[in-house]
Amino acid sequence: MTTKSQAVLDWIDERFPLTSTWKAHLSEYYAPKNFNFWYFFGSLALLVLVIQIVTGIFLVMHYKPDASLNAAGVPVAFASVEYIMREVPGGWLIRYLHSTGASAFFIVVYLHMFRGLLYGSYRKPRELIWIFGTLIFLVLMAEAFMGYLLPWGQMSFWGAQVIVNLFSAIPLIGPDLSLVIRGDYVVSDATLNRFFSFHVIAVPLVLIGLVVAHIVALHEVGSNNPDGVEIKKKKDANGIPLDGIPFHPYYTVKDIVGVVAFLFFFSAVVFFAPEGGGYFLEFNNFIPADPLKTPPHIAPVWYFTPFYSILRAVTYPLFGLDAKFWGVVAMGASVVIIAFLPWLDRSPVKSMRYKGPIFKIAVAVFVVCFFILGYLGVLPPTPGRTLVSQICSVLYFAFFLLMPWYSKLDKCKPEPERVTFK
Ligand code: HEM
Repeated sequence: MTTKSQAVLDWIDERFPLTSTWKAHLSEYYAPKNFNFWYFFGSLALLVLVIQIVTGIFLVMHYKPDASLNAAGVPVAFASVEYIMREVPGGWLIRYLHSTGASAFFIVVYLHMFRGLLYGSYRKPRELIWIFGTLIFLVLMAEAFMGYLLPWGQMSFWGAQVIVNLFSAIPLIGPDLSLVIRGDYVVSDATLNRFFSFHVIAVPLVLIGLVVAHIVALHEVGSNNPDGVEIKKKKDANGIPLDGIPFHPYYTVKDIVGVVAFLFFFSAVVFFAPEGGGYFLEFNNFIPADPLKTPPHIAPVWYFTPFYSILRAVTYPLFGLDAKFWGVVAMGASVVIIAFLPWLDRSPVKSMRYKGPIFKIAVAVFVVCFFILGYLGVLPPTPGRTLVSQICSVLYFAFFLLMPWYSKLDKCKPEPERVTFK
């Protein structure tokens, strides 16, 4: 560094912890040297978050949250999205980046969570990272749900109608709660305006705050790794973990590989299949919202369908409360239970590499059930499908609730002293 730039840096450092933050979180943050591709998904989630915010800012410049009809009899909100697609220079790209980004966010976050499950990253001392993660997931779902109403297509309208109505199943406060969420007795302009407000500012602020907390908590305890070995237990004379390497430049450079691979797939979808076969942008949502015409089949976007299936799997009333209420409880519980994983897993080892066959089978069954639930959630229910989703829902909960028992019972391999790295 030249003496001049050093002087500028010194001037800043006397007033702001720039160098010390850079060192603490990048150049002297020691990450295990054995990270594999599963570790790309955290930084990719950050990347998608940035893509969503930047494209969102440009969309808001042209989008209008207005349910009234224009001179052509089309809702203004719907027409403003079409205007972005056809008239705004590059508008189609911005919109497809944002709509594909929503699905990409969930793909990346699901893989990121699965990595945590594979390597026991939720275990002590990383419980708070995991709890912040679960909160992020919940908030992300709220963000996606509210964003989906904005194009004011048929699926936006009826999807919101179905989901907001669910809240009315809650005893005592339910009907009033759904009224507050909607701002009206039906999904209407008032709903569109409040969802817009939440989608563009309130929820993103919470999301960013949680992501910061997530990373601060991670940097406090240090990263886990594919072996589940605590690298801080073995340090050299300078207090540097023997199996650690500085995050910058090693992982900043390595993460670029992940970014390039991700952008390759992401651009392929954006440019060649932005509708994602009707899964990323549903066909029914190209029809303007019509409160007088219910579509024959209403299905949420793919990333909600495993949980939606669990909701629909509950068909029996209990304790004088109807099935809808218990469905809502089951759906809520299926997300919240994820947060308890750190206390449910009693295995002596963290990583799947050293866990025994029972845990591996349990995870495999869980993943299969999650996919089946996701698939059934897009289809209209039949008695056969309902039965399958009931079986999968029971297995989904069994994976978590029986974990304290089967994780202890399992025959694990001994964990190595140091990370394995070839
Ligand atoms: C907006 C969403 C999210 C962002 C931007 C994000 C970001 C990150 C980043 C940058 C890392 C460090 C790099 C890495 O280990 O991959 C990380 C680690 C981690 N995240 Fe997330 N995350 C998000 C959501 C979640 C969710 C939903 C969960 C789980 C419910 C979760 C659980 C974890 C765990 C356990 C770690 C530590 C992993 C380890 O050390 O092995 N994250 N996250």
